[in-house]
Amino acid sequence: MISKSSAPGKVILFGEHFVVYGVKAVLCAINKRVFVTAETIDEEKIIIESNIGNLRLGKNRNISEIDSPLKPFYFLADKLLKEQSKALGAKISIRSEIPVGVGLGSSSACCVAGAGAISGLFSKKTKDEVLDLAIDAERTIFKDTSGADCTVSAHGGIMTYDKTGFTRIGSEPDFQLVISNSNIEHSTEKVVREVQRFKDQNQGEFAGLCSKESELVKDVLEIFKEEEEEESKKITKLGEKVIQNQKFLETIGVSNGTLRKMVEIGNKTSFGSKITGAGSGGCVFSLTNEKNTEETLNEFKDKNYECFSTEIDSQGLDTF
Ligand code: PMV
Repeated sequence: MISKSSAPGKVILFGEHFVVYGVKAVLCAINKRVFVTAETIDEEKIIIESNIGNLRLGKNRNISEIDSPLKPFYFLADKLLKEQSKALGAKISIRSEIPVGVGLGSSSACCVAGAGAISGLFSKKTKDEVLDLAIDAERTIFKDTSGADCTVSAHGGIMTYDKTGFTRIGSEPDFQLVISNSNIEHSTEKVVREVQRFKDQNQGEFAGLCSKESELVKDVLEIFKEEEEEESKKITKLGEKVIQNQKFLETIGVSNGTLRKMVEIGNKTSFGSKITGAGSGGCVFSLTNEKNTEETLNEFKDKNYECFSTEIDSQGLDTF
């Protein structure tokens, strides 16, 4: 038996860091995917193959003793194999289009596609059932995950999230994103701690920034809803919000010389550029449409930045 699934990565369009303090963030699934193929094998082993390494282990191992980024796949396979009456093993192959460790949701997409493919070997599950499995798998490597990245990967499209939950945005504006990679790996946990320090030392200023970010996200949600607006006006307005959001991220200290330079490059030709995710490294996105995507890509390529263009992925998890 063979089962295949794929799931998209994500960017945070607005609200990163402030979301930790109760503001809504806006996430968007992007059309860069992880593809997972799972098959049952007679040998009672779990074999995982990927371009970041391989894992070959017997069943029933203690998860906390496994030291591998492929741990979520082992967790999923072991859990689902245990539920079967027949003694079987599983072989899992992973192929990814999403750069790793730069805030584009690669590990969450792995968990969603992994949960889809491995569960598909035994039964047909709904997206929400696959999502629950994926979040459990993600917890094996990131204990305190909010589940936001897995949720947007499973359902696709654009959504808001805060501590109270997730809301899918029905109206998806027609835009493209040029994503450029600083190739500086960052630790989200460390950057979140640094922002906490900034907040503790600048309480009044930080509270003011949270209100401003909250207003900004409200404005963005209004812009998404505007129906009569021409798309070009809509994207210009969104671009202004992107530029404004980047200023807030600069203020709380999650930018640096490299990222500032990248934002400057992107701002030359796009509607607006900002850091996406934790910052201090990772990626910058530039908001574009068919008129300026190529030009913006070329600006980054000329300066030797790794970059690519992408669009909203409306589908989320795909099982086939
Ligand atoms: O680095 P990423 O893309 O996983 O984003 C982290 C987003 C933060 O707001 C900085 C942290 C969080 O848990 O929401």
